[in-house]
Formats: sequence, C-alpha cells, structure tokens
Amino acid sequence: MTKLAIMGAMEEEIEPLLAHFDNVNKVDYANNTYYEVNHNGLDIVIAYSKIGKVFATLTASTMIQKFGCDTLLFSGVAGGINPDLKIGDLIIADKLCQHDLDITAFGHPAGFVPGGAVFVETSKELREIAKVVAIENNLKVIEGTIATGDQFVYKAEQKNFIESTFKADALEMEGASVAVVCDALNVPCFVLRAISDTADMDAGFDFDAFLKTSAVNSANYLIKILEKLQK
Ligand code: ADE
Repeated sequence: MTKLAIMGAMEEEIEPLLAHFDNVNKVDYANNTYYEVNHNGLDIVIAYSKIGKVFATLTASTMIQKFGCDTLLFSGVAGGINPDLKIGDLIIADKLCQHDLDITAFGHPAGFVPGGAVFVETSKELREIAKVVAIENNLKVIEGTIATGDQFVYKAEQKNFIESTFKADALEMEGASVAVVCDALNVPCFVLRAISDTADMDAGFDFDAFLKTSAVNSANYLIKILEKLQK
C-alpha cells in the first residue's frame, strides 16, 4: 500500500475521520473536495462522495485514477436488515450487490447485467485484518452481504424484496459502486458500516437521530484498522 483512499458518502461520515488527522491539504476537483493527509508516513486521501451510486462511483474512480490510491476503505452508516444488527452495530461487507439494478424483463437475475456479476467481493485480506482488530478491541462486528441502491429504504415491501432476493444483512446507497470500481481497477476494497436505522417506517427519523453517533462508531473502528495496517 502506497496511498490509501478513505471514503464516506456524507460529510458526517468523514468528519470524525478528518478530525483525527492534522495538516489536511484540500484539493478541489470534479465538483468535490479531496482531503490529503500524511499519517505516520502513509499518504491518505479522504473524501465524501455525496449520496448515491453515481457520486460514489465518480469519487472512488477519482481517488484511484487521479490521486493514485491503491487501497480503498469506506466508512459510513447503513440500514440494518439482519435482526442481529441493532442501531450503532458494525457490519463489514464480504460482498455487495446493486438491489436496484433490474433487467429481469430479459430473463436475467435481479442485480445482474451482462459483463457484470450480482455480487462483488471485497478484499479478504482487509476483512481478516479488521476481524483481528475487532477481537483485540472487543468490538462486535458482523460480516455479511450489503445491498446498495439509489433509494432510502423505509417501506416493508422494499426491505423484504432486498432481504429475500439478495439475502442482504444491511443496505445503503454507495458500497456496491465502490466495490465495482475497485474490482475493475484491481484495488483492494473494504466497506464498513454502522447501523443508523433498520430500514423500516421509523427509518427517516432514526437516520436523523443516529447518523452522527453511528458514523462515529464506524470511523473509530476504521481508524483502529488503519493503525493496524500501518504496523
Ligand atoms: N443508509 C442508512 N440507512 C439507510 C436506508 N434506510 N436506506 C438506504 N440507505 C441507508
């Protein structure tokens, strides 16, 4: 690893990460701001993409192609599907899918387009490191499937579709895009989320109430993983 990308989707998701570093250099590019830091000799670029798959794809591609990042870590919040995931709990994605990608009219499975795959895996090596860090710090972390789509999910019908079709444990709006970009460009990828809501009728309210605290849970764990990567 020579240059690390750390991404979130919203300002609240990267603010606790930025607060951890001094001497942040701001670079404006492609209608976004990229924050460069050097931490114990490692160059890191931090950015929030803005919400959704298109902005996440743009930011992940930019961090890799323009800034030269060769490993990407994502930190943020998600809606929980797996009943073991309570608000504040942590999930690392072993694989991700796009729950709103639908050409089933042509006989393809949900989430599939020719040339792609329903599921994209993240880096096993990074997940193993994260699991060691979780054990060392007594953190409860679930490893599972994250489903991504350009929808804030709060209706039972949407949540049930995603759960039954993809067996997803959590859902959000960016992870699979980042995983697709990293997979195509051969960059190890890690997606971490803390639960802000359970994608039900209270989701809008819970998201507003728990975005900040859950984003901090995710960021604190990510920083511990970073320290481990640098050892
Ligand atoms: N991120 C956090 N909660 C979410 C939800 N309910 N739907 C989509 N993305 C989310």
